[in-house]
Parts: sequence; C-alpha cells; structure tokens
Amino acid sequence: MGSEKRASYDELAGQLATLIEGEPDLVANTANMAALLYHGLPELNWAGFYFALKGELVLGPFQGKPACMRIAWGNGVCGTAASRGTAIVVPDVDDFPGHIACDTASRSELVVPLVATGRVVGVLDLDSPRRGRFDDADRIGCERLVAVLLAHHRDWP
Ligand code: SME
Repeated sequence: MGSEKRASYDELAGQLATLIEGEPDLVANTANMAALLYHGLPELNWAGFYFALKGELVLGPFQGKPACMRIAWGNGVCGTAASRGTAIVVPDVDDFPGHIACDTASRSELVVPLVATGRVVGVLDLDSPRRGRFDDADRIGCERLVAVLLAHHRDWP
C-alpha cells in the first residue's frame, strides 16, 4: 500500500474513533463518518451509507448531491457488494454493467459492505469524478474505517 495513503487512512481511523467515542446513536455516527470521509479524502463527489431494510438498501446519511433512495439487493455496485458481502472497486463506472448513476459526475466508485455478525447490514459508498480514483489501498483503508464503526455498533436492526 502507498505509505501516503496508509498514513491518511491511519489518521482518518483515529479521527473516526474519537468522533464516535461515547455516542451510541447510529445516525449521528454515520452522518459524521460520511462528513469526515467527504472532506478528508481527495476527489470525492459523494460519500455515504445505504442500510439493509426488508431485503433492499435504503439511503442513509451522506454528503454530496441527492441520491437514489432505494437500491434492490443485487442491483448496481451497492447492491452487488451487499449481495456478495465483499468490497468492490470500480475503476470506471461505464464498465460496470448495471451501475446506477445517481450523480452523472461519478466516474469511479468504491463500495464496502458493513458486515455485522455475519450479516450484511448496509454499505459504505464512495464516488469520485475521476476515473481510477480508488485502488486496493483505498479498499483496505475503507474496510478498516468500516471496522472501526462496526466495533462501536454491535447491535443492528
Ligand atoms: N452508483 C451506485 C448508486 C449509489 S450512488 O452512487 C450514491 C450503484 O451503482 O449502486
């Protein structure tokens, strides 16, 4: 992993842990996490969450332009990552069949599922206006940030 990116994710992980420490509310913590990532990571046009609800993904706290509110399980990058239970890096959204274009400025995307006690309870979604913005270092960094959130929120609806 590039040492600069790793250092940046190290710093974000520390800031996230400090932000959510002592706050039990999921909306408050995911809203602040979305803001932390949107402003802390370069070249993003959208950062936020979808939560699993009755077999589909429903929009949660985010930063960026208004987005689609419901995504069917298995649809788009978010629904595919949710159904697989693994992160997906999309270097060019035009090459991902079924990609859902919420913001037409988005050119690349990273989706990390939130897996709590073996169940996918949502996804973290990052979009960039630059093709090839996300690599494996970003995936590993964001998986780590999600792990910080999940260690703090153990009970999910
Ligand atoms: N592009 C996503 C939809 C969510 S927006 O990017 C915020 C997808 O294909 O699932």
